[in-house]
Amino acid sequence: MQKLSIQGGNRLNGEVRISGAKNAALPILCASLLSGDPLQLGNVPELNDIATMRKLLEQMGVVIETNGSQMVLSAAHIGKLEAPYDMVKTMRAAILVLGPLTARFGEAMVSLPGGCAIGSRPVDLHIKGLQAMGAEIHIEHGYIHAKVPGGRLKGARIFFDLVSVTGTENLMMAAALADGLTVLENAAREPEVVDLAQCLIAMGAKIEGAGSDTISITGVKKLHGASHRIMPDRIESGTFLVAAAAAGGNVTLTDARADILENILEKLQEAGAAIKVSGSTISLQMNKRPIAVNVRTAPYPAFPTDMQAQFMAMNTIAEGSAMVVETIFENRFMHVQELRRLGAQIEVEGNTAVIKGCAQLEGATIMATDLRASACLVIAGLAAQGETIVDRIYHLDRGYEHIETKLSSLGAQIRRIK
Ligand code: UD1
Repeated sequence: MQKLSIQGGNRLNGEVRISGAKNAALPILCASLLSGDPLQLGNVPELNDIATMRKLLEQMGVVIETNGSQMVLSAAHIGKLEAPYDMVKTMRAAILVLGPLTARFGEAMVSLPGGCAIGSRPVDLHIKGLQAMGAEIHIEHGYIHAKVPGGRLKGARIFFDLVSVTGTENLMMAAALADGLTVLENAAREPEVVDLAQCLIAMGAKIEGAGSDTISITGVKKLHGASHRIMPDRIESGTFLVAAAAAGGNVTLTDARADILENILEKLQEAGAAIKVSGSTISLQMNKRPIAVNVRTAPYPAFPTDMQAQFMAMNTIAEGSAMVVETIFENRFMHVQELRRLGAQIEVEGNTAVIKGCAQLEGATIMATDLRASACLVIAGLAAQGETIVDRIYHLDRGYEHIETKLSSLGAQIRRIK
């Protein structure tokens, strides 16, 4: 199993290019299932989750060609309308094939995702939405079996009890080919939903309101080929900025978008960082110990749960104390015990963690438990004194493109070991 060895204490200086967003690329790859014409994509990140999604789509019959970060997907001949357990258990986002398959072929078999490290994460809202659009759904042998009598979904008014990102994306894709008008209420407003909507619109879909909590989709009979560039990854952007704020230094992100990072940039300024934005570059300068900042996660535009662990890492070495409240996932504090192994002072009560900043963390061997927790441990290792070994970094490779190469180019002493 691969590990990362980090020699902490170096400041981070220089420029780093932000990759395409994993959470935009995954639903957009699934959107290729909605048409028989080729979908051309640019800025697709090279990540294990993308490789898993590619394998899943290829198993169904999608022909995929890649050239660097360019990808062309052609779903002209789909032979298998199924997402097997093996794939869904390694990557929950595989649920995103359910909407497109049901809409275009009137049938789909997708494994239920089951639990994962950060909580139970059900998919009931995806299922209820498709049922409201006329699909008959049976859960059989751990699989969701969707079938549409008559073959075509019907537009419906759907209210989400909870804001769900992939739920909104699945139903938006399904509605694009349904008969009539679908209105999604209490929809997710995440920028990745907007990126998917823009790709669908380029394919001929009629969608209004993406980015607000009410999305209206007038179904069309057919979608066509299109070309789309994946938006920059806001979580990767935030992770590098927090790393520089925790370790100190002067880092510039290129190919980034500040307009979708407002909450994160504000929190970093509150922590004492100087931020400058110019076009698609964001620079952060930090010359002192950070000041502890409170964080409360909630759906966009509030503070993202996918940045909670990284801010917790920064708070462990900050001046003062901070409270971190996780409102999205019930078990997203797995990194706490690992941070404690580095000397962090953290108390957890329910969904709230109280962190008392300490002057210095000390390197130790720690274990990554999920994707964003891994990023948190890397940040803590960069700020700690001595060597930190982060074990089980396969989680990190799911969602960060060449992270150790990018951090090394900023002056971090970090290497991959077997
Ligand atoms: C997406 C992101 C993930 C991020 C999360 C929250 C992708 C591929 N993943 O995950 O990185 O952490 O949004 O911003 O985009 N829920 C239900 N029933 C459902 C669906 C969700 O109860 O049918 C609950 C979940 O358990 C969770 C909350 O709703 O408590 C939000 O989850 P959701 O937005 O659906 O997360 P994902 O889309 O899986």
